[in-house]
Amino acid sequence: MEKLWWEIPEHLEVKDNRLFIGGIDTVEVAKTHGTPTYVYNLNRILFKYDSIDGLFKKYADREYQIYYAAKALTHPQILGPLAERGAGFDVVSPYEGKFAIESGANPDNILYTGTSVSDNDLNTALDDGIRRINIDSFSQLDSLNKICDERGIDKKSLKISIRWNNSEIGAGHHAGTITTGEESHGMPIKFGIEKKRVLDNYKKALEYGFLPVGLHQHIGSGWGGEEAVSNFLETVDRTLGMAEQITDALGYNLEFIDFGGGPGIPYKPGDEVFPLEKYVKGICDKVREFGLDFGKIIIEPGRYIVGDSGLLLTEVNMVEQKHGNWIVGLDAGFNTLVRPAMYAEHRVEDGKEVTEECYHEVINCNNVVGSGKKVEVTGAGNLCETGDVLFIKRLMSLPEKGQILAFHNGGAYGFSMASRYNSRPLPAEVLVVNGKDFLITERGTYGDLKRKQVWQNKQQ
Ligand code: LLP
Repeated sequence: MEKLWWEIPEHLEVKDNRLFIGGIDTVEVAKTHGTPTYVYNLNRILFKYDSIDGLFKKYADREYQIYYAAKALTHPQILGPLAERGAGFDVVSPYEGKFAIESGANPDNILYTGTSVSDNDLNTALDDGIRRINIDSFSQLDSLNKICDERGIDKKSLKISIRWNNSEIGAGHHAGTITTGEESHGMPIKFGIEKKRVLDNYKKALEYGFLPVGLHQHIGSGWGGEEAVSNFLETVDRTLGMAEQITDALGYNLEFIDFGGGPGIPYKPGDEVFPLEKYVKGICDKVREFGLDFGKIIIEPGRYIVGDSGLLLTEVNMVEQKHGNWIVGLDAGFNTLVRPAMYAEHRVEDGKEVTEECYHEVINCNNVVGSGKKVEVTGAGNLCETGDVLFIKRLMSLPEKGQILAFHNGGAYGFSMASRYNSRPLPAEVLVVNGKDFLITERGTYGDLKRKQVWQNKQQ
């Protein structure tokens, strides 16, 4: 049988026309754990991590560290094994940091890169032992200074770095995932310190008594292909140039430069496989050629490490033709997997309104190859919204009620973005480790929905 584009030996395989993950039959996973359920293969995650690590080992002329972006998939059963492998963590909220610490991460290997950071966030992060704080705005620096003064925290005990925005080049799979430049498709960009104010931010940090030790960039999420990597490498040059100016101004060498995350994965047939070697070698070559003395190279991939490790398993509730369109109703919606709805693009082409999907491959776990005539199928969720479609007019064999459909690349920004909209509890999570499946998050319940609902009058 011809190999399907998404098949990955020992990870995603087809046996007897059924879909297997890490050696386990996905239909059995659905039977055992119910649906909707996210299922990940730990071996795949570690393989992806190791593939990056191996290339840095080969090309880096100094220390390096991979800071896994915990926002992509935050479960301690994923963070723990990565911490054991030596990973650091990019965290965006105090509790992501707490999860990482509780999973065994060394707090010295956690960088808290927040946005719109409240005093409460900063206090919680400090209380939980986070010591590396990446400054995103002047106002955050002021708040941190005030908090340290009030609480008597030794400012030199914190390792602060600054997130800069190169003010020109950004990249992402969607307008909403580009994080550098002045604006993205008309949306003002909120992240980082703009180029012309970066040195002032370091000076201010010094005046306050902090010891800034790093420079950080993150240009956006979900870019891939040769050209995108070349553009990214241009931003590496810019960041090194900025680091040189900073080093001159500070009068000491930086401990690290963090080039952020963003490497993409193929979602559609024909998508380019991410040129990992070009990316890692490119960073290492630029760093060496630039000749700046600084400690450690850091990158922060999330999607690349966990994206293709996971599937979302859903059951077909309904198969019916409406206005000539085949609609397949699922027991998952954008509450379970928000990406197709959130990153779809609606536009007018030749006078006709079209929606370009944010594509996730859909696989019929019971009947992978398909049978009978292929028809155009739209996969709809169980939420009360027109936009609750997870795939649009895909040519496939018509699934049957009760069959299990899997959404490929569910490992990144799947469960971590799920919500309880329409009073639907959160899905379960299952981890496959060496051919065995473990439930790692129980399916949400009505009790979870009710928890914390109260009737209180605090004025009394
Ligand atoms: N570092 C920082 C500071 C970030 O903000 C992010 C992602 C990463 C690293 C990791 O990016 P990655 O390597 O995973 O591309 N929900 C969107 C993606 C949003 C990414 C947010 N920040 C999606 O589903 O495509």
